[in-house]
Amino acid sequence: MTEPAGPASRCQTCGVPGGAYALSAEFYDILHAASYRTHAAVLAGPAAAARVGILELGAGTGLVTETLAGASSVPVHAVEPATAMRSVLLSRLAAADGLAGRVTVHACAAQDLDLAGQVDLVVCLRVIACLPPAERRTVWRTLAGLLVPEGLLFFDRPPARLPAAPRHHVLGEARVGADTYVGHLTEWPEDDRIRYVYTYLVRREDRVVRRAQEAFHLWPMTRPTLDEELAAAGFHVEDGLVQDMLKVRRLPVRRVFTGSGGHRVR
Ligand SMILES: C[S@@+](CC[C@H](N)C(=O)[O-])C[C@H]1O[C@@H](n2cnc3c(N)ncnc32)[C@H](O)[C@@H]1O
Repeated sequence: MTEPAGPASRCQTCGVPGGAYALSAEFYDILHAASYRTHAAVLAGPAAAARVGILELGAGTGLVTETLAGASSVPVHAVEPATAMRSVLLSRLAAADGLAGRVTVHACAAQDLDLAGQVDLVVCLRVIACLPPAERRTVWRTLAGLLVPEGLLFFDRPPARLPAAPRHHVLGEARVGADTYVGHLTEWPEDDRIRYVYTYLVRREDRVVRRAQEAFHLWPMTRPTLDEELAAAGFHVEDGLVQDMLKVRRLPVRRVFTGSGGHRVR
């Protein structure tokens, strides 16, 4: 079994998880495409309204990127540090009529981007919970710096708490030729994190012909902590777009908390 993305699977120069998703990328679209496309459809409206540029943080294989680029008429920046996920993303862009000309792929982590003021919409789905708390706080600040004042950020809420006990989910199954691809997820609490273990099986007739497993960590956060971190980075939470997606606006003036009870404005 592959260990969660740790130092060994991170890029030696920039520290981003370039080696992560090495096993999951193969199974990602076959198991998730239908539900993730449906989930992303609600972002077509905000994408169509973008007037400057769109940034997608952790674009993965491009399931959400397709919607953002298809609905908009501004440059789209897809940020994806993991080589395996980026390979699928680039193949998707190359195969889709017109998309490769509109989407720029950045092979780095959000924190290393240099696109200040070039976007008025940021989207990150299924990413924030995967960031260790210190990295997450850096990412909020980075995103505030990239967005124009009043620009919008959409993301799905991280789990609010650790699961009380191990939980098992079936991710679904899909048929490819003679084979059935099946995905399972098991999660359990591990210190202050949730350990997610994905198991992928390929079945032919009544035999399992292939099996792969990859593990990740997720960091839960309470709503007050989330609100506090966003406010400290210069964001204001607006109404949710759909049940689990938050709509957040970058404040016109950025307040930087000094840690001594006060704040300065820049
Ligand atoms: C669960 S996948 C979600 C992919 C896509 N957003 C989707 O919904 O299908 C999480 C993605 O975030 C990427 N990621 C992790 N840390 C990142 C960071 N610091 N900056 C940008 N992307 C990151 C991972 O490489 C991975 O592709």
